[in-house]
Amino acid sequence: MWMTGLPSGGKSTLAEMLEAELIARGRRVERLDGDEVRMHLSKGLGFSRDDRDENVRRVGWVARVLARHGVIAIAALISPYRSTRDELRSRTRDFVEVWVKASLDECVRRDVKGLYKKALAGDLPHFTGVSDPYEPPLQAEVVVETDRQTPAQSVATILAVLEARGYVSDAGISHVKGRSDG
Ligand SMILES: Nc1ncnc2c1ncn2[C@@H]1O[C@H](COP(=O)(O)OP(=O)(O)OP(=O)(O)O)[C@@H](O)[C@H]1O
Ligand SMILES: [Mg+2]
Repeated sequence: MWMTGLPSGGKSTLAEMLEAELIARGRRVERLDGDEVRMHLSKGLGFSRDDRDENVRRVGWVARVLARHGVIAIAALISPYRSTRDELRSRTRDFVEVWVKASLDECVRRDVKGLYKKALAGDLPHFTGVSDPYEPPLQAEVVVETDRQTPAQSVATILAVLEARGYVSDAGISHVKGRSDG
C-alpha cells in the first residue's frame, strides 16, 4: 500500500492507524515511514529528484520483499513524482496507491513539523509543495480527502477499498470509530 501526498497531509497518521487495524484483524503488517526510512535505509540521500526517486525505489523494493512473504507493507512517503510511483506500480503485484489528499492551504495550516514556515520564508529549498513539485496521482486506487474527513473516516475509506478488492476480509466488528458497522 503506497500512501503519497503533501507534507502534513496525513500519511503517517493514517499509516499508523491502518497498521493497528490490520494487526487487530490478524494480519502481519510492516510500516515504512518516510522519516524513519531516511534515517536508515536511505540515510545520506537528499531531496533532488534523483535522490527522491532512489528513496522511493528502495522502499518499493523492501515492500515487494515483504509482500512476497504475506506481509502487508504500508509505505508512507511523499513520493512526489508520478512516473516513479507508476514505475513501482508496474513492478509490484497488488499495488494499492492511496492519495492522501489535502489542500496546500490546509497542510500549511497544520504544518506538523514547522517546515512549511521555513520553506515559505525562503529558508528551505526542495520542500515539496512550496519549493519543489508534487505531482498528484491520476488514477489512485484510493483517494482520501483529509481536509474534509476525520482520520477515522479516512481509515474506513481505505479499509473499504481493501475489502472490496479482497485484500482483507471484513472483520465485522471494528474498533475504527466512524464505521457504521461497528
Ligand atoms: N483525515 C485525516 N487523516 C489524516 N490526518 C489528519 C486527518 N485530519 C486531520 N489530520 C491531522 O493532520 C496531520 C497530518 O500529519 P502527518 O504527520 O500524518 O502528515 P504526513 O503526511 O505524514 O506528513 P510528512 O510528509 O511531513 O511526514 C495530523 O496532525 C493529523 O491529526
Ligand atoms: Mg509523515
